[in-house]
Amino acid sequence: MSNTTSGSLIEAALSAREQSHSPFSKFRVGAAVRTRSGRVFTGSNVESSSYGLTLCAERLAICIAVHEGHSDITEIAVVADTDGAPGPCGACRQFMYDFAPQAVVFMENLRGDSRQVQVEELIPWGFGPADLLGRESIPAGERSDSDD
Ligand code: THU
Repeated sequence: MSNTTSGSLIEAALSAREQSHSPFSKFRVGAAVRTRSGRVFTGSNVESSSYGLTLCAERLAICIAVHEGHSDITEIAVVADTDGAPGPCGACRQFMYDFAPQAVVFMENLRGDSRQVQVEELIPWGFGPADLLGRESIPAGERSDSDD
């Protein structure tokens, strides 16, 4: 872990991973997001028998934060039992770009192998809210739906 702050977010993601509902893949993922105001929200992957409906841990954590009115996400942690640090899937990268384009992402496997990148490194030149709303950028904290 690179520092205490990211370490606590990784710990939250590890706890969330314990709640993973993954009877089909048996691949357990945990995620945690921290908002600018310091709130932490977590999620794990929740699988459906109709596989395509499965929810990834990262997207669930982001959705819970947004649902609770905290869309100004500054840090994201992802943990899974991968060989190296776990890279988020493409759909989750898009979600991160939608809600946390300036966030830093901490990825760590169960052996402590870790990587830290910016969301924009995971999805360069991405499609996002500004493309639909015709604005240069919309800082999450300035969106009308945020109380952060
Ligand atoms: N999964 C995640 O939760 N996040 C990712 O970024 C990659 C994949 C989950 C979905 C599914 O339950 C399992 O991992 C195997 O794909």
